Amino acid sequence: MISFLLNGERVDVEVADPTVTLLDWLREERRLTGTKEGCNEGDCGACTVTVTTLDKEGLVHQALNACILFLPQLAGKAVRTVEGVAAPDGRLHPVQAAMVEHHGSQCGFCTPGFVMSLYTAHRTGREDHDDVLAGNLCRCTGYAPIVRAAEAAAGEPVPDWEVDETAGLWALAEAGDMSGDGFFLPASAESLAAIYGMHPDATLVAGATDVGLWVTKQFRDVAPMVFLHRVTDLLRIERVEGGLRIGAGVTLSRLRGAMADRHPDFAELIRRYGSVQVRNAATIGGNIANGSPIGDGSPALIALGATLVLRHGEERREMPVEDFFLDYGKQDRARGEFVESIFVPDQEDTLACYKLSKRFDQDISAVCGCFAVRMEGNVVAEARLAFGGMAGVPRRAAAAEAALVGRALDAAAVADAQAALAEDFTPLTDMRASAAYRLRAAQNMLERYRLERAGTATRLVGRGAA
Ligand SMILES: Cc1cc2nc3c(=O)[nH]c(=O)nc-3n(C[C@H](O)[C@H](O)[C@H](O)COP(=O)(O)OP(=O)(O)OC[C@H]3O[C@@H](n4cnc5c(N)ncnc54)[C@H](O)[C@@H]3O)c2cc1C
Ligand code: FES
Ligand code: FES
Repeated sequence: MISFLLNGERVDVEVADPTVTLLDWLREERRLTGTKEGCNEGDCGACTVTVTTLDKEGLVHQALNACILFLPQLAGKAVRTVEGVAAPDGRLHPVQAAMVEHHGSQCGFCTPGFVMSLYTAHRTGREDHDDVLAGNLCRCTGYAPIVRAAEAAAGEPVPDWEVDETAGLWALAEAGDMSGDGFFLPASAESLAAIYGMHPDATLVAGATDVGLWVTKQFRDVAPMVFLHRVTDLLRIERVEGGLRIGAGVTLSRLRGAMADRHPDFAELIRRYGSVQVRNAATIGGNIANGSPIGDGSPALIALGATLVLRHGEERREMPVEDFFLDYGKQDRARGEFVESIFVPDQEDTLACYKLSKRFDQDISAVCGCFAVRMEGNVVAEARLAFGGMAGVPRRAAAAEAALVGRALDAAAVADAQAALAEDFTPLTDMRASAAYRLRAAQNMLERYRLERAGTATRLVGRGAA
């Protein structure tokens, strides 16, 4: 049995099937049909709910997509749906009132999701409306009235009926391991190692932004499931000698915060990763472990010279992130072994990241290039050029790197590096881009990098825009 708060009330749920999503449970079991199903794959935001957790600093409110959130992921948390934001006497929450006032709803299908994204932003004081709403799609009203509603609601005080869930969440807090029919909820890396050792064919579930789709789109049998979100050791970001140790269960939202000062371009790359809802769920461990050739985390980590700690039982081994990816769909990970943490070394080199996708927000990269180049005087002493989308795995461009080392970072050196990229990669043609386009785009990224380092702005929006 798992327990959580639903619109302020405690619910105890006997989970007969751990792959039931919060969205299906809300609509089919609780008849809370305000939360809508649009895409059922984390893309449209129609199913957005607010999930609140209690951590050391207090309450953390997050917008999440209920369609790719499994019930066991809610143990000990508080869920608020669109039915739970107005006052009991029917008075509208400021974000609802603003949506009415500014004509932010037409067919209304997307509206509950927009309201929940705005509600979460209102609770947390966020005013970066475009980012907050990037994971909510509307096909009819247009975004201008919705953004106007967001701006209007932002200044409104928190309504007096808003509930503080702290006491309710304390009452639900459970420290140790939990389990149910076909699933495990370990609370420490020790327990995770033991459980996964005993069930090496189980599916590890971190944020479920991949695994959720295996269930909702591919109808795969993923049982038994081992959920990682309660493994406190995997959630830490620690300052250690020579760098940062990042637990595999750290979400992209938290990683963005940790990178903001050190590597602002990495933080900007993460801002372009999925949407707020996706970043609040997706973990950096899942992003690496899935072995995707187009995952955005890996090129940046490879360029930074990051290493992974893999754990099997009590055994640990450490390897450079770049060595983890053996071939398409094949990683250097044994049965029963999991990613425990990632070490990002301190380094002075400025990391530059370029993500190319068809849409600016909420899209997967066609090509992603991340570059860290160390200069000694005017000469390139070391170059780490890592690309996603150019091969079956994220990889460094050894020939292009060699073309730069020992030379000034000038047009001639970059032209040679661009030519060398054709030796490094034979990209694929797929629905995102043709092979020729990918190669040309990657070459152009090197030229952009040269121009930026020389002080020319090459970006239209985001960090470094003119
Ligand atoms: C709408 C949408 C937009 C997206 N946009 C982007 C994007 O812009 N950029 C991008 O890179 N990705 C994107 N993704 C893909 C996805 O978010 C990432 O791959 C994500 O980081 C996966 O992390 P997760 O925690 O959700 O993993 P899960 O889905 O929980 O797991 C993914 C895989 O990793 C394994 N795994 C998880 N944690 C561990 C661990 N610690 N050790 C070993 N194995 C582990 C799981 O067993 C599974 O095989 C998007 C996904 C969606 C649905
Ligand atoms: S239904 Fe589209 S994101 Fe959930
Ligand atoms: S109001 Fe119709 S999809 Fe948004």
